[in-house]
Order: sequence, then C-alpha cells, then structure tokens
Amino acid sequence: TTHFQKLRIRLTFAEAFPGSSIIHPLHQIELMSQSSAPTSRFSTIATAPPDAILGLTEAFNADKRTDKMNLGVGVYKDASGNTPVLASVKAAERKLVETETTKGYLPIEGHADYRKHIHRLVFADTVPANRVAIVQSPGGTGGLRVAASFIGDQMRGAKAWVPTPTWANHTSIFQSESVVVENYRYLNASKTGLDFDAMMDDIGNKASRGDVILLHACCHNPTGIDPTEDQWKTIADVIAARGLMPMIDFAYQGFGRGIDEDRVGIEAILEKCDEAIVCNSFSKNFGLYSERVGAVSMVTTDDSATGAVHSQLKRLVRSNYSNPPRHGAAVVATILDDPALATMWKAELAEMRNRIASLRTSFVRTMASTGSGHDFSFLNNQFGMFSFSGLNPMQVDQLRSEHAIYMVAGGRINVAGMTEARMQHLCEAVANVIEN
Ligand code: LMR
Repeated sequence: TTHFQKLRIRLTFAEAFPGSSIIHPLHQIELMSQSSAPTSRFSTIATAPPDAILGLTEAFNADKRTDKMNLGVGVYKDASGNTPVLASVKAAERKLVETETTKGYLPIEGHADYRKHIHRLVFADTVPANRVAIVQSPGGTGGLRVAASFIGDQMRGAKAWVPTPTWANHTSIFQSESVVVENYRYLNASKTGLDFDAMMDDIGNKASRGDVILLHACCHNPTGIDPTEDQWKTIADVIAARGLMPMIDFAYQGFGRGIDEDRVGIEAILEKCDEAIVCNSFSKNFGLYSERVGAVSMVTTDDSATGAVHSQLKRLVRSNYSNPPRHGAAVVATILDDPALATMWKAELAEMRNRIASLRTSFVRTMASTGSGHDFSFLNNQFGMFSFSGLNPMQVDQLRSEHAIYMVAGGRINVAGMTEARMQHLCEAVANVIEN
C-alpha cells in the first residue's frame, strides 16, 4: 500500500468511528487537503520578467556574436574594454592579506573605520558626527532597501517621490517595502535637459508634508542631467519649506565634476534641511562592484534622535542580512587611511571621469561625421556614466538585433562602456537605426 492508500484507510476508519482517537478531525481535514493538493507548490508560480538592466547583461553574455557591445549596465570600461581592478584597490588588498587577523563578523552597523570615512567623504564633516546615523550596507542598493524598509516601518504613510525617469530599481525597492511611489517630472520634452519648472511644480505642490523626495546627488541615472547649483538651492528651499524628507542617492561621487564638487546637491540640501537620508555606493568610484560596498546615512536633529534611528537601522539590518561583508569596506578604509593610496585612488578616479568626458565629445563628433543629421551635442552637457540617447524602443531593439549593441530599453547609453576603438562602428550603427 502506498502512503496515500494508508491515509485513505485511516480516514475511512475515522469516518466509520467518529469518536475514535486514531485520527483527530482537524488532522483529517489537513490530511485530506494534502492528498488532493497539486504535486508541486511551485508549478503555478508565474515567471518574472528579466531585470531591465541586469537582464540585459544576461542576454548579452548569451549572445554568440563576437562584435557585440554592452552599453547597458553601468560599469566602467577602460580603453581595452576591460573593467579593471584599480591599482589602489590591488595595493590595499595586498596590505590586507598581510595584516588582516580575522574574518569574524563585523558589527551589525558595519566596519567602524569605513563608517568614519563615509562621514568624511560623503558629508565632508559638515554635519556633526552625533547628528548622523551611518550604517554600512551591501552596495548602494542595499542602503536604499534598508532606507525604504525604515520608511515603511517608521515613517508610515510617507510616499516616495522619484523622478521620471529614474533608475528602474528605485521603484521596485520602495514597492518591495510597501512604500507608495509617486513620480515627479524631470526630463524636458526634447529629452535633452531638465524641466525644472515641472519638477518644482510636482515637488512644491503635489507632494504632501512628510513625503520622501528621492534625488540623485549627481550623474543622474539614466539621463546624466543634473540640477545646477542655483537649482539645488531652490530644491532645498522648497523641500525645507514644505516639510518633505530629502533622500539622496549618491552612487557616482567623483564621476561628475569631482569628489568634492559632486557634493554640491547634498550640501545645498543640508544647508536648509535638518534631516535627510543619504544612500551611497562605492561600486563605481572604487570599481568595487561585486564587493557590494555602500551605506545608508540618516541625518537627524540631535544626539538622541541619532541613537534611536541608529538602533532601528540595526534592527532592520539584523533581520535582513544580519551584518555586512567585510572585504570591500576594509579595502575602502585601507585606501582612505593611507595618504599615498588615497592619492593614487583620486588619480585613478580622475582618469575614469576624464575618459568618460572625452568619450562623450568623441561620440558627439563621430555622430556628426556620419551625416545622420541628428544633433547629439546635448551629451556634452551631461555628467557621469549615462546619457539618454533619445532613441526609441524600436531603435534600441534594432541596435541589438542587427548590430549586437545593447542598451537599456528607454534609450539610456552607458557612455563609460564605449571605447575609442569601436566608436566609428557604434556611431554608424546608431546612424543606421535613426535613418531607417
Ligand atoms: C546601472 O544603473 O546600470 C547600475 O547602477 C547597475 C545596476 O545595479 O543597475
């Protein structure tokens, strides 16, 4: 007899002798529903769509064409098309191999020295240490998720306002924590610049007191379009006057104008707002993508609020991933602790920044030489890895199917993924899809 036949016999017995102790009626219901349940709990699960950005990398890796080009995911490439480990990182890793004495757990809030450096690098010590709760996170995404979790948990009812467009994952992260997402307008009608009036209209008139306003500190992803210093001041005034909570995603420090210059937005906000949330990442500026190094920092009004916020952040981390990974944070701290390594890192970051700027100029010039008649000079006014090309989804598809060139469906180009060697090929392909 099979397991289910045995069950049936026992159930029949229980049905015939209702008072019997052989099987309790509640168990009977449970057993009967088990026996008629589908064989797999997972067979009815719907397949999720591929991720808008990382799904593209999966498709790219599976593409057999040898002349393929990935301008999708935001990863820096050097002139040879490689994503190298920075020399400063290699040197710090060598030092760590010699000096590290344990792989024991970090505290829930992360590496102490690393957190101290976040205070310096991200806030330039402008906010006193007792007014900011800093917690290391697994990458910028991890920091955003912890922040979203905090908002869902401790700021009930606050909606999150994100720009249109924004990094696709922003919306998913908030929604995963049941935070309602609203959009504020950002890109102008010609898709080449900021529609500042529309942005201020949405933030100033539509968001409610206590709502969270997500801002990209610099190198806006996906457009590369940043507010000017004066515009940042106006944004800060409106956010402060309306009692909104600024939340700044700082994933590209040093990729725009410079390490200090890229703090312009954060400084303008903190000049006017007593409270803010900042999520930062060292994936790009230290090239530590796979080490997952980031942080969430919450600026508060006083010591006791900092302590309370810090404790809640720790609680959220503990129930999520317990405590963060050590290696990437130790690398960042080792570099920033050592003046020679810090100088080396700054030079390497400047090289990446300057290379991206020169690729922008080169792309604009080469596009002009194709005679496509489409003016891409707006790319020269943008910052960071990304630009919005203005190509429509059909053209993006065509670039992929006919030319093995991958970019995000909305038309975002990762300028940092271009190489001089393949610029002509890229521009001819773009001209081709624009003309057809
Ligand atoms: C991107 O926007 O391409 C990067 O931030 C990588 C990612 O995680 O999406």
